[in-house]
Amino acid sequence: MHIACIGGGPAGLYFAISMKLRDPAHDIEIFERNAPGVTFGWGVVFSDQTVENLERNDPKAAQIIADEFAHWDDIDVHIEGECITSSGHGFIGIGRKRLLEILQDRARELGVTLHFNAECNPADPKWQDYDLVIAADGANSRFRDAHADAFQVDIDVRANKFVWLGTSKVFEAFTFAFEETEHGWIWAHAYRFAPDCSTFIVECSEATWRSFGFDKMSQEESIAVCEKLFAKYLDGHSLQSNATHLVGSAAWLNFRRIKCENWAVGNTILLGDAAHTAHFSIGSGTKLALEDAIKLAEVLNRPGLSRDAALFEYQAERNLEVLKLQNSARNSTEWFETLHRYLHFEPLQFAYSLLTRSQRISHENLRLRDREWLEGVERWFWKRATDGRSNKTAPPMFAPFKLREMEVENRITVSPMAMYSALDGIPNDFHFVHYGERALGGAGLIFTEMTCVSPEGRISPGCTGMWNADHVAAWTKIVNFVHANSKAKICLQLGHSGGKGSTKLGWEGNDVPLDEGNWPVMAASDVPWSPVNQVPTPMTRADMDVVRDQFVTAVRMGVEAGFDMVELHAAHGYLLSGFLTPLQNRRSDEYGGSLENRLRYPLEVFRAMRDAWPKERPMSVRISATDWVGDEGITPEDAVEIAEAFRNESADLIDVSAGQTSTDAQPVYGRMFQTPFSDKLRNEGRLATMAVGNIYEPDHANSILAAGRADLVALARPHLIDPFWTLRAAAALDYRDIHVPPQYLNGQAQLARNLKREAEAAAAALRA
Ligand SMILES: Cc1cc2nc3c(=O)[nH]c(=O)nc-3n(C[C@H](O)[C@H](O)[C@H](O)COP(=O)(O)OP(=O)(O)OC[C@H]3O[C@@H](n4cnc5c(N)ncnc54)[C@H](O)[C@@H]3O)c2cc1C
Ligand SMILES: Cc1cc2nc3c(=O)[nH]c(=O)nc-3n(C[C@H](O)[C@H](O)[C@H](O)COP(=O)(O)O)c2cc1C
Repeated sequence: MHIACIGGGPAGLYFAISMKLRDPAHDIEIFERNAPGVTFGWGVVFSDQTVENLERNDPKAAQIIADEFAHWDDIDVHIEGECITSSGHGFIGIGRKRLLEILQDRARELGVTLHFNAECNPADPKWQDYDLVIAADGANSRFRDAHADAFQVDIDVRANKFVWLGTSKVFEAFTFAFEETEHGWIWAHAYRFAPDCSTFIVECSEATWRSFGFDKMSQEESIAVCEKLFAKYLDGHSLQSNATHLVGSAAWLNFRRIKCENWAVGNTILLGDAAHTAHFSIGSGTKLALEDAIKLAEVLNRPGLSRDAALFEYQAERNLEVLKLQNSARNSTEWFETLHRYLHFEPLQFAYSLLTRSQRISHENLRLRDREWLEGVERWFWKRATDGRSNKTAPPMFAPFKLREMEVENRITVSPMAMYSALDGIPNDFHFVHYGERALGGAGLIFTEMTCVSPEGRISPGCTGMWNADHVAAWTKIVNFVHANSKAKICLQLGHSGGKGSTKLGWEGNDVPLDEGNWPVMAASDVPWSPVNQVPTPMTRADMDVVRDQFVTAVRMGVEAGFDMVELHAAHGYLLSGFLTPLQNRRSDEYGGSLENRLRYPLEVFRAMRDAWPKERPMSVRISATDWVGDEGITPEDAVEIAEAFRNESADLIDVSAGQTSTDAQPVYGRMFQTPFSDKLRNEGRLATMAVGNIYEPDHANSILAAGRADLVALARPHLIDPFWTLRAAAALDYRDIHVPPQYLNGQAQLARNLKREAEAAAAALRA
């Protein structure tokens, strides 16, 4: 094949090498606009896995690169005069210039033609003469932008400002240095990539950047300010730029996240940064470029594959990896953009939050990297959780948590789940076994399903209720069992279905009206849930009084039944959620319009409930922290205001769910997908939260808790299938201080032994 590579960066060079290695007959020319040795940036970092990929692809170049690597294990996080050091991170760095020199030599050796000082224009007809034109021309690719529509380019310009500098100061650890100034926070990411040189990236918010006046400074002036700001880390060494062609503030950039729907159009193929970028804070841009290059060369040389089929395969096989990396990179980017949330953390937790920001590194990962450090975090967590009473080294999920006078034994919660199995609202044998079993299973707190305050307030005919003495008696039996046989606390979730009422049992059709026997429904406004649901009657003030009083009666019954806690369900599009979201609330009175107005009735109900509930027992509110429909619905920013409003009415905990408020919602699912909302509410609103949503491993729970992203962690579906999720986790993590029902002690001990043996065998196999 006759191939033109536009760009002599890592992607273009390594693609040419990888093609020649597979078939020396390929005729490949690289066109690079710069002279040899002229490049932006300083060092780049790699992971061990990238190095293994390079070794498999081209052992010779890999060896030369490996010989020049700077290695380091530690990460130092400097904040508020403290330096938190953790180890075992295993980084490898190399100068970008040196990497390119090695790749250029290798490309020449394999017969690739290199043209320097060759600015390429995508409109030049000569590109049609090549079988393939590889657009490896970087993030600002002209070749991509010439066909932006066909490639379906999506560019997201991120909020923070950064400048990529270098220094002769040798940082022995990967260093993050956070400095508070009169203009706001500014920080550096620094690492050594050669015996005498380190990368030094300075980053800050746009507001801080302007407040410093960086927008009006020359590069030299900016550098002088940065040298002064970070003097204590630089030990007299200067900072330097190698983007000397950029004038004034132009050396300060906003990171551009690039994604393309199509990677090949006609004979042009995107490679590396031209196709997709990953934020510098996860250090994976060069990895993406090199691994793209390997994959493209591999599919183009795969026997029996046509050119078009090969290009299809290239994208199909790389897409998932790129998406995963871009997801991690987005998490990391957002962490730095929302730094203000974490600045009140103690330095140790701040460092933990920083290390786990991309969600690629978890609690157990950190244990593998640096057990001693992680155990220090665990001890710190337990100390805080117990007001200094405990010095235990144990996973955070097993630490107690206190809300008013209620202390839960551990941080795992059985999330509320409708069982659709009651008759006339009365919990029966099914409920007795269901809740009893989950209490025996070790969770610190179990929630009832949404228990309705009136027959008309039920979602379905199978919902449980709390409006008469039969309900109190049945719930009392359950609560008594839980208290007598476990350490779990039990919380009564109270709700009213509003416009989503009068529907079938969950498994007969979610939100589908009954075939017969429907009852009239009311809501904030006459907005039906969907075209097949009833049009609700807008509530009058008199209706509002009645429903508020029903909630209060239910709370009093909850006291009688002995519940430890009450939750007001104001999420998922039911009655009170329907007041909160503008998608359902179209009222023109003082209960509609502004968020303050939409909050008025839900707050009134909460206040009345709080007055009826004992002062020493806690109350929570479940909210949907986003409607998942963009700015027309509830946004996470609105959710902070909503959470704060309930907190100001003495809510002790916000149960942070999301969505189910509109059929137009576009949720983004994934592991722990709602946890970012809990993080936002907890750390911007400074209130206690419970995270929920696709959290299914103990490692998830521990990472969330230690990073201060929630105070409690709720699991719903995992508990449906495994009531003993928490005891199983305790066995797996060899945590022995959890309450186990005495009848089950032998089982727990045997499970712990077997899991330990299996883990030891797996570790031995790995070592072998
Ligand atoms: C501040 C910062 C820090 C980073 N840190 C890391 C890190 O630690 N680890 C890591 O892996 N990655 C890092 N990256 C990302 C990394 O630099 C890129 O992901 C990587 O360089 C992508 O390689 P590429 O070959 O696709 O593009 P580039 O390296 O950008 O190469 C593109 C080449 O094309 C040339 N070119 C462009 N247009 C034309 C044209 N019209 N004609 C001729 N030539 C042209 C350019 O001169 C350039 O040499 C960082 C990036 C930034 C901005
Ligand atoms: C069968 C089922 C019933 C549910 N019923 C309720 C409910 O009554 N009240 C409520 O607030 N959430 C309810 N939910 C939502 C869960 O509490 C939880 O927020 C959701 O399932 C996401 O958590 P998970 O990924 O751990 O399942 C229900 C979920 C399921 C699966």
